[in-house]
Amino acid sequence: MKDREYPLNDALGLERKRGGGSGIGRACCQVLAREGARLVVADINLQAAKHTLTLLSVGQQHVAVVMDVRDRRSVEDAMKAAQDQCGAPPSLLVNSAGVLTMVPFLETDDDTWQKIIDVNLTVSSKLWQSVE
Ligand SMILES: NC(=O)c1ccc[n+]([C@@H]2O[C@H](COP(=O)([O-])OP(=O)(O)OC[C@H]3O[C@@H](n4cnc5c(N)ncnc54)[C@H](O)[C@@H]3O)[C@@H](O)[C@H]2O)c1
Repeated sequence: MKDREYPLNDALGLERKRGGGSGIGRACCQVLAREGARLVVADINLQAAKHTLTLLSVGQQHVAVVMDVRDRRSVEDAMKAAQDQCGAPPSLLVNSAGVLTMVPFLETDDDTWQKIIDVNLTVSSKLWQSVE
């Protein structure tokens, strides 16, 4: 069955050769919720995380928390909130936080470059360490 073998394809819009529009993390949440997972949706934009909750299959009590992946304290607070609300630490982590700034490389200023590196690369260690 195609849907079972490639459950993310439809959610991400890969069949139509485009990015899906709603983001990789949201698409992952939708697929995982459909498969029965209980989710803690974390994002620097709490409203966006809350909106994701409205798109998830019912059945589990999913929660939304604010988290800035660049800030270790924020990551730790979000993980604690997740554990408090779910009664156990996360058993699966999807790290899809990302920023994409469409600026010609030679015109990229230091702050923009640092943000791209921090969010897209450096944060991974903070996240993985927080759920070890
Ligand atoms: N969608 C694609 O086809 C595609 C392809 C290749 C690479 N990527 C990369 O994958 C990453 C995710 O892509 P997407 O399409 O899901 O992007 P998106 O913009 O839809 O989602 C990124 C999410 O990360 C959140 N975020 C940004 N900074 C954050 C921070 N500091 N802390 C916590 N959350 C933060 C945003 O609020 C947003 O909800 C990006 O880096 C993108 O460049 C995407």
